[in-house]
Amino acid sequence: MIAAEPREAWVASPGGPLRGEVHVPGDKSVSHRAIMLAAIADGTSRIEGFLEGEDTLATARIFEKLGVRIEVPGASTRIVHGVGLDGLQAPTHPLDCGNAGTGMRLLAGLLSGQRFDSVLIGDGSLSRRPMRRVLDPLARMGASIAAHDGFPPLKIAGGKSLRGISYASDIASAQVKSAVLLAGLHAKGDTEVREPHPTRDYTERMLRAFGWPIEFSPGVARLSGGHRLRATDVSVPADFSSAAFFLVAACVIPGSDIVLRRVGMNPRRTGLLRVLRAMGAHVDIEAMGEQGGEAVADLHVRYAPLHGIDVPVDAVPDMIDEFPALFVAAACASGTTRVRGAAELRVKESDRIATMASGLRSLGIAVEETEDGAAIHGGPLRGGHVASHGDHRVAMAFAIAGQVCDGEVQVCDTANVATSFPAFDSLARSTGFALRES
Ligand code: S3P
Repeated sequence: MIAAEPREAWVASPGGPLRGEVHVPGDKSVSHRAIMLAAIADGTSRIEGFLEGEDTLATARIFEKLGVRIEVPGASTRIVHGVGLDGLQAPTHPLDCGNAGTGMRLLAGLLSGQRFDSVLIGDGSLSRRPMRRVLDPLARMGASIAAHDGFPPLKIAGGKSLRGISYASDIASAQVKSAVLLAGLHAKGDTEVREPHPTRDYTERMLRAFGWPIEFSPGVARLSGGHRLRATDVSVPADFSSAAFFLVAACVIPGSDIVLRRVGMNPRRTGLLRVLRAMGAHVDIEAMGEQGGEAVADLHVRYAPLHGIDVPVDAVPDMIDEFPALFVAAACASGTTRVRGAAELRVKESDRIATMASGLRSLGIAVEETEDGAAIHGGPLRGGHVASHGDHRVAMAFAIAGQVCDGEVQVCDTANVATSFPAFDSLARSTGFALRES
């Protein structure tokens, strides 16, 4: 069962300057995890700042199908009546994760220790994303998950007793780490995950906030089974990855001057800031504070001419979702920007190296692709047609490109923007983008 691919399109035209304050929606990674942990906690949790995006709504719907009552007292708020670690009910139908890799991979871990069978399905894009990276460690823990040659749907057999493992992952992936840790909640003994480069640590922090004993430091996390989660309230910060589109847009649209309010600043997410600053960007971090245990800040961004750089390989995992936006910044920069060590981009919602390279080429930018990156030669952008291949972040990146072209840019297949950033287009327009539906 594969959901129909949604199709819509935008016309982006020369616009700006961008002005004013921008409040972007809640963090997608944190919203997924908040629903998951609240659902299997003892007691009632309140989530504020929940992302009303299709990905996270899909996760919430899945837990409702697993017998969890979730109230919606107001926009971006959820009250989750947790059923406890073993309180989920067997689903009667396949569980649809939509476009969400995070939803599917984390759920694979969480459901592999349940008493009941379950099936995880997704849309066309998710059905082409590799799952072996979670299936292999979960199988070592004793899980039984059938897939089509490593791709969804995932058929999870219930009633397996899991055992803890020590897992050295060869890819830097928070989804892999989180799937193993969530399976570890139901496992006998200790579960440890080591990563080749530290990744976002929201699962670890949130497990601790829900009272599960866990040790972690950058690149390693360790927990043992046999505890319980206690309900807690979660305040979700604004998503850095959504803020990134406004950040880059303000950097490249002459005359722009905006403030992005209360943006999540987890250091495993903010690699783009480091890279844009090295390219000459003008970004001030103001009013640094804390929200729900996460660092947040206001980002004051002003236009400044950018120059190309070699993106440091060690920054890649800290900006893994920001490459579509970075490619546009690189196209607007003088000189060449080189990206290496980013092969993971090929297995995101689309092959982001290929989709960004071909889209930029059709706007007149020279891009050389490599297996694990690209060289982007900055230059004048002209109008044209680009395909987002249903990839939300690619679509939003080309909406920025349209603001600095010498003509109109048609961006096809934009409906999936709602997976992570509902109402991006109206927020963008209110900030100064010239962007309309076609
Ligand atoms: C995420 C981890 C990253 C990221 C994705 C969200 C998460 O994926 O690209 O958007 O919430 O754990 P990988 O684990 O595949 O790097």
